Amino acid sequence: MKLFIDDPNQNNIIEIRGAGQSYDGGENWIIKDLDFIIEDKPNQGQFVVILGMSGCGKSTLLRYMAGLQSPTEGKVLIEGKPVSKNRRVSMVFQQYSSLPWMTVLDNVGLALRYKGVSKRDRDEQAMELVKLVGLDGHQHKYAQYPSLSGGQLQRVAIARSLLANPSILLMDEPFGALDIRTRLQMQELLTSIWHKFQSTIVFVTHDIAEAVYLADDIYIMKYAPSRFVEHIDIDLPIIRNKDIKRDPRYTELVHQVEDTMMKVANT
Ligand SMILES: Nc1ncnc2c1ncn2[C@@H]1O[C@H](COP(=O)(O)OP(=O)(O)O)[C@@H](O)[C@H]1O
Ligand SMILES: [Mg+2]
Repeated sequence: MKLFIDDPNQNNIIEIRGAGQSYDGGENWIIKDLDFIIEDKPNQGQFVVILGMSGCGKSTLLRYMAGLQSPTEGKVLIEGKPVSKNRRVSMVFQQYSSLPWMTVLDNVGLALRYKGVSKRDRDEQAMELVKLVGLDGHQHKYAQYPSLSGGQLQRVAIARSLLANPSILLMDEPFGALDIRTRLQMQELLTSIWHKFQSTIVFVTHDIAEAVYLADDIYIMKYAPSRFVEHIDIDLPIIRNKDIKRDPRYTELVHQVEDTMMKVANT
């Protein structure tokens, strides 16, 4: 079975080929012969979820895509070009990454500040995002706990990353530290807004139900050394809300992903 559509006549937004990662000069390989190829679907968002055991290299892969780390071997292309930090790639981490000495509004508008946009224009654009993620009324608070809850801080991080209008949004277990109710609310928020941005989202999670709810495509990594071994097409309607979780097809897909994870873990 072919894991990735890999048509030479079509553009890929993300192309990792033959990646290998070793931290001891090639004695041990954490990642080996890994390909990850995501076709470009212009003017259309796509939601790709990566599943794999802890320590298999998911965060490492996101760092490759963000240009924060290069693999020991292999190549990484973003929109057909070698990855560089100034490309339109944003990252949301599990740990709150907002600047606590700045307000919500200033945090969200940060990308525009680096571009030299005036404070007034920054605030106006940032405010749109603040509203979109449900933080209207909190914009002048400092982005820190406990002024804002964990869920609210992740809303800040999401708003900030979306303001940069990224072509690729990398999300590394972004809801992993949240309680279950907040987590479900954040899943709802994400499903309701991400289509507007036509970004390619690469999302890492341990939560299979979350993966199926959010994804168009799920890719599963095997461990030691890591590479992708399974692809599951999530053939649920593109526009989702929580009712889909009552759909028998949703349940069926959750079981299919679970079985596949177990199969991969046992090989
Ligand atoms: N600087 C480093 N030196 C040695 N090993 C590292 C280093 N950074 C990461 N690793 C190892 O690489 C593996 C993959 O890490 P990571 O990408 O964080 O995995 P995941 O996000 O899937 O949990 C882990 O086993 C980790 O211990
Ligand atoms: Mg990780």
